Amino acid sequence: MPGGKLSGRVRVPGDKSISHRSIMLGALAEGVTEVSGFLEGEDCLATLEAFRVMGVKIERPEPGRVIIHGAGMHGLRTPHKPLDLGNSGTSMRLLCGLLAAQPFSATLTGDASLTRRPMKRVIEPLTRMGARIEASPDGTAPLIIYGNTELRGIDYAMPVASAQVKSALLLAGLYAQGRTCVTEPAPARDHTERMLQGFGCPVARLGNTVCVQGGGKLRAMRIMVPADISSAAFFMAGASIAAGSDVMLEHAGVNPTRTGVVNILRLMGANIELLNERTAGGEPVADIRVRAAPLHGIVIPVEQVPLAIDEFPALFIAAACAQGETVLQGAHELRVKESDRIQVMADGLNALGISARPTPDGMVIQGGALRGGDVDSHGDHRVAMAFAMAALRAGAPITIRDCANVNTSFPGFADLARGAGLNIRQI
Ligand code: S3P
Repeated sequence: MPGGKLSGRVRVPGDKSISHRSIMLGALAEGVTEVSGFLEGEDCLATLEAFRVMGVKIERPEPGRVIIHGAGMHGLRTPHKPLDLGNSGTSMRLLCGLLAAQPFSATLTGDASLTRRPMKRVIEPLTRMGARIEASPDGTAPLIIYGNTELRGIDYAMPVASAQVKSALLLAGLYAQGRTCVTEPAPARDHTERMLQGFGCPVARLGNTVCVQGGGKLRAMRIMVPADISSAAFFMAGASIAAGSDVMLEHAGVNPTRTGVVNILRLMGANIELLNERTAGGEPVADIRVRAAPLHGIVIPVEQVPLAIDEFPALFIAAACAQGETVLQGAHELRVKESDRIQVMADGLNALGISARPTPDGMVIQGGALRGGDVDSHGDHRVAMAFAMAALRAGAPITIRDCANVNTSFPGFADLARGAGLNIRQI
């Protein structure tokens, strides 16, 4: 429903990227890894279930707490059924790397969105390491991974800045002969590197290159997962556009490889403060205070794109409410996320009376008055949540369709947003 403002203290659920990795690395470690703040979203639960199928004992004593009884580097067991990873690209791509090095074969599958997403980006470099992975002719899942215990380390220069590709190769590299090095064209999120170090596995970084040595092992650790800045981003955009808003987003991860959304909103004129900055479990965290402010259109600096790659749905809503034109370039990756986020967001904005012109690698948005209307999220969680926040500035109700996948990354979104002041109803 239109109008309202956001206020109060909000703690969004745990970071999705870190939650996935806590299960994967905890499963490979020696000893018991205890995780708090784990994201109980469908994506991370798909990872958790996959490791249970591979024989890892994982307990969930209470919400947000997970206890993983590590099986060691060589302790995974043959999965006797396909591993269904639902909507989760991170699960599938990281598992490709990990499973390529096992002494057994596995089949990976997922939902309609995941089985359309490009997997050649991991298959191709893993194949150079000696992996055997079978995909559909267009390089999509279902995938069959024929394990090979004799992978070779490689030096790989990634064509796009992708943390999933980097992480898949580093995971395979833990098992490979020699050293595996990945060079990124621009910094992508570095949680895998940080967490490997935390698990006692050295990762060398030289400039834009990270390397791991094969043959090591991981030591269990305690992991505190910060709140997900990608989930907080919806509240940042919402509070920025809705007059009178003042929210505190508590204990949010502010790893510099993830804070593009803060940088971009600030360039647009947003009033965002990082308070109480500290480190928790090897990751920088802060409380983020966001107050409403008049936004203006900008040309988004391309170097910020990989640092905000999941936040563009929320940023497009901010741009729609800004004065003047916002231009995004260099973001072709958005076309191969859970949906084609360039097309789907442009269609939704146009349906709400905003001029949004998709380009091959971005969008040009003219700020204007949001009408109410009907928007199809195409099953994309972040598209659905972004348009929910748009209602704060809309002239009439916005109906958003196909929202079940909000549960992949942000269970409880509607209740939390309602508590902060968004007039939202699930029907
Ligand atoms: C992720 C990496 C990003 C991001 C995704 C999570 C990760 O994908 O979009 O939501 O946890 O490694 P890419 O590696 O494809 O950019």
